[in-house]
Amino acid sequence: MTSIETEKQAMAYQVFYSSQAVAPLPLDELEKILVDARVGNEKRGVTGALIYVDGVFLQILEGPEATVKSLMHSIAQDSRHSSMHVFHEAEVDQALFSTWKMAYLHPTPAQVASWLGLQGTATIEDVLADVHGGSDQASRIAYGILKAIAQ
Ligand SMILES: Cc1cc2nc3c(=O)[nH]c(=O)nc-3n(C[C@H](O)[C@H](O)[C@H](O)COP(=O)(O)O)c2cc1C
Repeated sequence: MTSIETEKQAMAYQVFYSSQAVAPLPLDELEKILVDARVGNEKRGVTGALIYVDGVFLQILEGPEATVKSLMHSIAQDSRHSSMHVFHEAEVDQALFSTWKMAYLHPTPAQVASWLGLQGTATIEDVLADVHGGSDQASRIAYGILKAIAQ
């Protein structure tokens, strides 16, 4: 394999979105979503992370661009959530969650706010307003999750 091919293989398309659970989700329904995600991602060669905070999902998906885009299409039609808002998408050199079919965390709004560098008490609405407003925030979220799952 040439070095150009190696480089191409390492690249990934990354999408970050937020959405709203249609109702407060009991643990077994959250687990079902996670199983669906992990099975679907294994099949597609997609990796990523999902967090659920106070009725809000934040998800990162990474993989081949066309695959990630078509998966986003399926996920957008899932009746278990609504108000999907893509706040960052980009081609990156390296998938951040390449060893995770779908990492999962259930942080508090305060934890997510601290990843974002927000001061004081923050609600999930404050977190969302901040995340939707700035592109640096996508990488802060990603590194916050990475740090938390490494603990
Ligand atoms: C918040 C949320 C996140 C999801 N994430 C994924 C995912 O990462 N990968 C996946 O295959 N399905 C995911 N799903 C499930 C899909 O919406 C869908 O049910 C599943 O992919 C089956 O679709 P298919 O029959 O088109 O394969 C998610 C659903 C929700 C509600």
